[in-house]
Amino acid sequence: MRIVAVNGSPRKGWNTEKILQRALDGAQSVGAEVEMLQLYAQPFKGCISCFACKRKGNSTGGMCTFRDALTPLLEKVRTADAFIIGSPVYFGAPTGMVRSFLERLMFPVDTYLVDGEGKRVKVLHDTTPSAIIYTMNCPDWLMRQVDYPKLLGSSAEEMARLFGYCETLYACDTYQFSDYDRYDCNMFSKEDKARQRDTHLPIDLQNAFELGRRLAIMAEEAST
Ligand SMILES: Cc1cc2nc3c(=O)[nH]c(=O)nc-3n(C[C@H](O)[C@H](O)[C@H](O)COP(=O)(O)O)c2cc1C
Repeated sequence: MRIVAVNGSPRKGWNTEKILQRALDGAQSVGAEVEMLQLYAQPFKGCISCFACKRKGNSTGGMCTFRDALTPLLEKVRTADAFIIGSPVYFGAPTGMVRSFLERLMFPVDTYLVDGEGKRVKVLHDTTPSAIIYTMNCPDWLMRQVDYPKLLGSSAEEMARLFGYCETLYACDTYQFSDYDRYDCNMFSKEDKARQRDTHLPIDLQNAFELGRRLAIMAEEAST
């Protein structure tokens, strides 16, 4: 069983990757082979709207036929038994790179076909459990007030529709700079931020561990 994580943050080793790594640790704890993939290490484009995946009689098998540096990464995700995407929230949305990656991952497994009952024809019939982990600067109460779950929820909804299962984890109030004193920033108290990092990040990490473990167990059950 192979589970991959996609780090959709440009910062290696920061909040998003740390939390993703714990999710992979959780998957590994129940026997999964795991791999972290770095999205920002690849120069790539989003969907170029070639519609090769929608041509009559196409044999793309749900893979994006436009080849660039993203292709090997897409292949690893598509052949994994489960996958987890991590993204920082940028202006109330996933990062642009994550959006571009999702276009290339999801459009080829989506169709413009409906069956006799008007239901969307599926490319994938088996479930591939998936998850999205969002990290963000804003605290939990503000995330709820500005309704980030609604703003951010559409990607997870599409993933659930196309891959059969998707869950979301929100990690709020992340520590953004290694030294707050060196940045123009009086909106946030560095003491509050450090307290949050020391008390809440361990909870996010534990939740991620359990998420990874849960996904790996689901993938194992789906394959037997
Ligand atoms: C360009 C940019 C836009 C951001 N926009 C938001 C935002 O809209 N809401 C929010 O809560 N945090 C925002 N943040 C903060 C990041 O989401 C947060 O620091 C995240 O945890 C960073 O992940 P990383 O540590 O893995 O890089 C933004 C950061 C950047 C660089």
